[in-house]
Amino acid sequence: MTVKAVVFDAYGTLFDVYSVISLCNELFPEQGAALSQLWRAKQLEYSWLLSLMERYEDFWQVTEKALRFACRTLHLPADAAAQARLMDAYLHLDPYPEVLAALAALADTPLAILSNGAPPMLSAIVANANLQQTFAHVISVDEVKIYKPSPQVYRLAAEKLGLEPATIGFVSSNSFDIIGATAFGFRTFWVNRAANPLDELGFTPALTISKLTDLAYMMRET
Ligand code: 2OP
Repeated sequence: MTVKAVVFDAYGTLFDVYSVISLCNELFPEQGAALSQLWRAKQLEYSWLLSLMERYEDFWQVTEKALRFACRTLHLPADAAAQARLMDAYLHLDPYPEVLAALAALADTPLAILSNGAPPMLSAIVANANLQQTFAHVISVDEVKIYKPSPQVYRLAAEKLGLEPATIGFVSSNSFDIIGATAFGFRTFWVNRAANPLDELGFTPALTISKLTDLAYMMRET
């Protein structure tokens, strides 16, 4: 079946959450990789915990709290100014190098973003990457106040696009997101850049690719 629209995850798929490493290293020499990894891991863990607790806080708050926890765990003396700089870096994450070419190859298909990011965070990264004209919709979980992989999130995107889930191509590098989107009924494309094993949760993507630039022709092939 032809894909009528393509929906992208943002963090980790289009935008490199580890592009904060250089600032982390500048502030805390040689701690950049450890800080950025723990920061990201806690950010996701908090999003899942808050969803289970039915105590939604937006992704900016979640990201700040995860940063504070990661700094405390690694014994990094992050004062308010350092924290503010690191949070600001989250608004300027680099798109992966192949993003522009991959999106250009899909120019004849409606494109959207569906992300955990709070609306101001998403507006900022999209604008800073000059992608404002690329996406017909930039959809935040903030509208349903629960995080991925809740089906409420994927349903929000299907409703906004006015399409049946099976006709929507969903692209993410986050395996939990791909599993949630597959369970919901999207046609899923897992961008598995690091050749990681898939989680054992019983749902598999329609297709696994190693880079975003494979998307356009692989989508036509399947
Ligand atoms: C996103 O929703 C999962 O963080 C990822 O953008």
